[in-house]
Amino acid sequence: MAAIQPGRGPALRDAFDSCIARLETIRTLADFPYATRDGVWQTTSPDELGFMPAHGSWTVGFTPGMLWLAHRATGRQEYVEEALARCRRFLHRKDDDSTHDLGFVFYPSFVQGYEITGVGWLRDGAIEAARTLSRRYNPNGRYIRAWGPLGSDERAGETTIDAMMNLALLFWAAETGGDRRLAELATAHAETSARTLVRPNGSTYHVYEFDPETGRPIRGSTHQGYSDESSWPRGQAWGIYGFARSALQAGRPDFLRVADQLADQFLSRLPADRVPPWDFDDPDPAAPRDSSAGAIAAAGILQLAANREDPARAAILHEAAIDLLLGLWKHASSRGRPDQQGNLLHGTWHKAAGFAVDESLMFGEYYFMEALAKALAIT
Ligand code: GLY
Repeated sequence: MAAIQPGRGPALRDAFDSCIARLETIRTLADFPYATRDGVWQTTSPDELGFMPAHGSWTVGFTPGMLWLAHRATGRQEYVEEALARCRRFLHRKDDDSTHDLGFVFYPSFVQGYEITGVGWLRDGAIEAARTLSRRYNPNGRYIRAWGPLGSDERAGETTIDAMMNLALLFWAAETGGDRRLAELATAHAETSARTLVRPNGSTYHVYEFDPETGRPIRGSTHQGYSDESSWPRGQAWGIYGFARSALQAGRPDFLRVADQLADQFLSRLPADRVPPWDFDDPDPAAPRDSSAGAIAAAGILQLAANREDPARAAILHEAAIDLLLGLWKHASSRGRPDQQGNLLHGTWHKAAGFAVDESLMFGEYYFMEALAKALAIT
């Protein structure tokens, strides 16, 4: 990892310490926070399945994920006990084949926890979750189906750029006692995504639709963005991180080049304060922002910088990610705001649905902390 430029380390450390301090509120909650409402965490039980209206079902892994990061930084055992207890509460989701989001649920929680503790049920649970996720792979179009129950026609032809983040679970499981097929279908999904979800200018569609019977690519569109042809920053950020990590796990330099292209496009569209708008193409200058997209992109760009063999390019990417983190810390953090329970303000989950607009989002909290840990070489 490239060195942090002089004078920038203390602010990054302050930001990371603030993540640990704000985690204390989360630890008092019986259930799993997913977003704030008027600055106060709203929680979900791990049993609320499906995307709508149970928005929190894909975010339960981020609470133990933050506890694992806090343990890495402090060595304190109490975080381990609590992370294990939290993970235990959604172990049964390993059999949930109703969503492509099992990577979000199991990677920051079970996989990270297994790497820290070596606890066997974390490994076994995560491998089983990967097998369950693999059931959503459609060999006709070579993509992982995002939505709709298996066995139904509902949205059977759709995948999303977000799904790139779920591949890490498949690659990891293939390496950790699951079978090679898991890595093969993850690689196939990434190839399909690079061909369809990534536009020639390096921006991304949120959604791509295929004919589920023949696999014929039909069209790109959006679910949460401003328009079908707009560039939705959070999707772009999932793509940066997903392609960068897949490049490493699959040993595919071509995926690294895709991540590079996505990162350049994302960085070229950021405003001066580095807090992304909710959509790069919303013409309204007063439109809400999405700090979570900045946090996810920073984590992904640091991953990309670590993968790059060219030291000059790695240093540019590393500095760009630090700029993003410092911009978020300066312009979107809740410093001096005791009325706010989250650490990162100004996240937007789903603007068109009016859901969690200009609030703290649990994935923003997690990836901000993970990116800061990467920047500070907390491993
Ligand atoms: N993966 C869903 C979202 O980013 O809102």
